[in-house]
Amino acid sequence: MTEALPPDATRAWVAKVAASIDGECTEDAPMAPRTSIRVGGPADLLVRPEDPADLVALLSACQAHRVPMSVLGGGANLLVADAGIRGVVVRLPLDFGEESEDGERLVLSGGAPVTRLVQRAQAAGLVGCEFAAGIPGTLGGAAAMNAGTRIGEMKDVVEAVEVATPRGLRLVPRAELGFAYRTCRLPHRAVVTRVVFRLRRGDVAASRAAMEADMAHRRLTQPLGWPTWGSTFRNPPGDHAGRLIEAAGLKGHREGSAMWSDLHANFVVNLGGATARDCLALIRLARARVRDLFGVELELEVRLAGAFAPDEHP
Ligand code: EPU
Repeated sequence: MTEALPPDATRAWVAKVAASIDGECTEDAPMAPRTSIRVGGPADLLVRPEDPADLVALLSACQAHRVPMSVLGGGANLLVADAGIRGVVVRLPLDFGEESEDGERLVLSGGAPVTRLVQRAQAAGLVGCEFAAGIPGTLGGAAAMNAGTRIGEMKDVVEAVEVATPRGLRLVPRAELGFAYRTCRLPHRAVVTRVVFRLRRGDVAASRAAMEADMAHRRLTQPLGWPTWGSTFRNPPGDHAGRLIEAAGLKGHREGSAMWSDLHANFVVNLGGATARDCLALIRLARARVRDLFGVELELEVRLAGAFAPDEHP
């Protein structure tokens, strides 16, 4: 997510970037409270661009000054390093970009919470996005990682995404997005500003019932009351990471103040005061045990951001 340190790693570039935009800038912004697992150090500069033109100005300033740039969605699927994040972190406001509705098509802000898709679909008599109920984070982040559950994923309903790059705004059609299980291919240094959804008219009451059933399953099987980033690993083909971690004897295992949940073994929970180092120790242990016992290579679903020490890498 974050690139190499800028050659002139001083406060000067922070001031230059901050001076080039209108949006709100916070230096040394604590990131732990902005992530759902509540772990990690500060970002050099957190920026909330005011509008799409401001965001493009920010991206081109970062490029011109060779400042690393990363994007914070809802912070729901993110592990920030204890040393924090060098460079600029972009966080879009909830109502960034103009939203619209036209028949079966909804255009929604990339900074909006995923729940907005569900609410707007229900209000418009549209169905097809049942999987999105209860997914944390923002629509831009959910599109960028093709978020989903066992009943569907973003690629089922996204027609296009609008992205900002240092060169301006651009609409990327679904065919160019390379959607696959929990991934999507976005242009370099792109920030998802709006998402174009294509839904269909249907039985809204049945849609609501399907959402409630999936959420009831999740409430029973996932540690939703705890600080967590959700699934840690992607499910390997034909199996489930949670089943494998449990079979490796790690359910309830602790490293410092982080624990493999005793409810769902693919969820790390922060018991209070956990560090990124604690979380990464759990990740490394699970990977090694599952590899040794079952010959399966678990791949991370959670994204890492920031300056990790070489011995911390998973
Ligand atoms: N299982 C175990 N032990 C555990 C956890 C699960 O044996 O500790 C077994 C269950 O018994 C079940 C199977 O693993 O047979 C699958 O479990 P579950 O129904 O909880 O689904 P999952 O594959 O673990 C996926 C998504 C979740 C999504 C749920 C429900 C992935 C990586 N995870 O979990 O998505 O909420 O289905 O729809 O695809 C997320 O991506 O962050 C996320 C939470």
